[in-house]
Amino acid sequence: MENPTKLRLLATTTFVLLLHNLYLTTADLNSDAHALLKFSSTVPHLRKLNWNSTIPICTSWVGIKCNDEGTRVIAIHLPGVGLYGQIPPDSIGKLDALRILSLRSNLLSGTLPSDITSIPSLQSLYLQHNNFSGDIPLPLSPQISVLDLSFNSFSGNIPQTIKNLTRLTSLNLQFNSFSGALPDLNLTRLRVLNISHNMLNGSIPISMQKFPVSSFEGNSFLCGPPLSQCSSLTSSPSPSPNYLPSMPFHSKRHTKLSTGAIVGIAVGGFFLLLLLAFFLFFCLKKKNEDSVGALKVQAVTAGKNEKSDDFGSGVQAAEKNKLVFFDGSAYNFDLEDLLRASAEVLGKGSYGTAYKAILDEETTVVVKRIREVGVPKKEFEQHMEFVGRLGRHPNIVPLCAYYYSKDEKLLVYEYMHTGSLSSLLHGNRGIGRTPLDWDSRVKISLEAAKGIAHIHSEGGAKFTHGNIKSSNILLTRDLDGCVSDLGLAPLMNFLPTKSRCIGYYAPEVIETRKFTQKSDVYSFGVLLLEILTGKAPLPSSGQDEVVDLPRWVRSVVREEWTAEVFDVELMKQQHVEEEMVQMLQIGLACVTRVPDMRPSMEEVVKMIMDLRPSDSSENRPSSEDNRSNVVTP
Ligand SMILES: *[C@@H]1O[C@H](CO)[C@@H](O)[C@H](O)[C@H]1NC(C)=O
Ligand SMILES: *[C@@H]1O[C@H](CO)[C@@H](O)[C@H](O)[C@H]1NC(C)=O
Ligand SMILES: *[C@@H]1O[C@H](CO)[C@@H](O)[C@H](O)[C@H]1NC(C)=O
Ligand SMILES: *[C@@H]1O[C@H](CO)[C@@H](O)[C@H](O)[C@H]1NC(C)=O
Ligand SMILES: *[C@@H]1O[C@H](CO)[C@@H](O)[C@H](O)[C@H]1NC(C)=O
Ligand SMILES: *[C@@H]1O[C@H](CO)[C@@H](O)[C@H](O)[C@H]1NC(C)=O
Repeated sequence: MENPTKLRLLATTTFVLLLHNLYLTTADLNSDAHALLKFSSTVPHLRKLNWNSTIPICTSWVGIKCNDEGTRVIAIHLPGVGLYGQIPPDSIGKLDALRILSLRSNLLSGTLPSDITSIPSLQSLYLQHNNFSGDIPLPLSPQISVLDLSFNSFSGNIPQTIKNLTRLTSLNLQFNSFSGALPDLNLTRLRVLNISHNMLNGSIPISMQKFPVSSFEGNSFLCGPPLSQCSSLTSSPSPSPNYLPSMPFHSKRHTKLSTGAIVGIAVGGFFLLLLLAFFLFFCLKKKNEDSVGALKVQAVTAGKNEKSDDFGSGVQAAEKNKLVFFDGSAYNFDLEDLLRASAEVLGKGSYGTAYKAILDEETTVVVKRIREVGVPKKEFEQHMEFVGRLGRHPNIVPLCAYYYSKDEKLLVYEYMHTGSLSSLLHGNRGIGRTPLDWDSRVKISLEAAKGIAHIHSEGGAKFTHGNIKSSNILLTRDLDGCVSDLGLAPLMNFLPTKSRCIGYYAPEVIETRKFTQKSDVYSFGVLLLEILTGKAPLPSSGQDEVVDLPRWVRSVVREEWTAEVFDVELMKQQHVEEEMVQMLQIGLACVTRVPDMRPSMEEVVKMIMDLRPSDSSENRPSSEDNRSNVVTP
């Protein structure tokens, strides 16, 4: 009699607790949304923000990023949105899970509310290039590691409490009106310090003398290494007002802030950049075609042609040649941000060059410049909209934005931290290499198969990927496999015939130059054989001929030396050979010569899943759930 009551009680309690949790989490996200709406309704902005309580905040609001669980807002990126006026207290300051706030390059003014700098979780604050004034508000969150207040009108002393920010790595306060003495910032993690062009005085503390001259210059009354020695004069009490450097400084500020001057500087800067970029381009091109300068050159040229450099000229001009973002993209930056970002060549693919662009400490994207696009703008846009929707799958690299002009086509993708399967399998063979274990290889195969199966089932019977290969399977931090370059093959008016691709082409593709879903299956089969053998279907060193992986594997298997085909790195693992043999059979089924005899991708997914019927690694809620939010906004 007692037990059922107890059970019921327990059940009720659990239920109440669950409800309570649910209520709590939604309440938190609701209060975040509420605070953000207050911000967007009180702070005017030149560009529209799509923030609206009728659409989901974590997946659809521009510039907003949530935690993995989708329960709190953790980052706001709104650079160059044309925000102006003051930030009211009790708006952004209410987001008490916020880690990153970037409002750089706007026209914000007035004092910065102290509830923002004291958000306990705040790690990075980017407010450079605004017109904030007054003191740095106190207290400062002890978590702060990046503080960029440069190019504003802040004044007063640099507060002593900065000394207590032990996590601080980067402090940029240049071009403000700070005065008084420098606090002694003996912070072990501090790598970037810039307090140039203020009105600071006194001597530079010993612990800060390791920073270069340019960290300090433009403060007429600051002295000591690395600047010139302090004379006895500077240590005398306050200099007469005539000597205060405020006049030239202020005129500098005013020129900077007048719209005409901004445009002037921007245009001048652009031409300078252009010149510099061309110079760099030609210098580097001689040495190495894959130069960092190349993106800048071409992209700057594009920007110039499109006259997208003029921020002040209003919304329309700015809207016209912007990057086109997809619904649900959490990013918010523009072409200029992209051009300003530091870029690094990741590699040359079949269709163009890929660059890694670091927009700020927290935002990294991959920009693909694609060549020889065979379709006009309208068609390109329609195709990209289609591909953008189709690509919303946890095993496809998300496409965030694209840019199309006559001279330049850019695709912006999310950056995948672990690089490609190809580099994990073949890169850095030698000492210090951690081989990819069998479990990871099975997991990545399955995820890649799911991504391709999704493309085939949702894209329509005619839609293919057309370029499945190990360098197009990219991996997240958690080694989740994602298919990249979706939808590029149909845009191109040529068939890449570089030997890097040929090894993956089905025999009929080489004959007919046409891709089908069955030819994708063939390429995937080659990929499976590559994963199993550790051999790449590429020309091996010293010979031009491409390794025909399927033929080689078939010949070895025919001789019944099956064990010989497997990657030596896998042979060290125990109890996996049976699974490897089964995987080999799946791979061989995919590379059957007759297209109709090949399984469909759906079937391939099932076969790989059947390798391990009770695979618990399938329930990885953290990353998959997070991504599926994006799929169903
Ligand atoms: C939010 O969206 C709804 C419908 O989509 C619209 O009626 C409403 O005006 C929007 N609100 C704001 C503040 O934009
Ligand atoms: C900074 O830290 C010291 C101890 O390390 C403490 O005494 C002081 O009150 C702190 N200052 C502020 C403003 O928090
Ligand atoms: C620095 O300037 C402040 C006023 O801004 C003054 O009170 C102080 O004495 C000056 N210190 C030195 C060392 O010149
Ligand atoms: C900086 O701090 C370290 C310990 O935190 C100390 O050993 C060192 O002497 C300090 N340097 C200066 C110049 O104060
Ligand atoms: C500090 O900022 C100024 C102005 O932006 C720049 O010219 C200088 O190179 C910077 N110095 C350092 C060390 O970052
Ligand atoms: C910037 O702020 C200062 C005072 O805070 C003001 O005098 C100046 O006009 C502002 N500049 C612009 C361009 O709004």
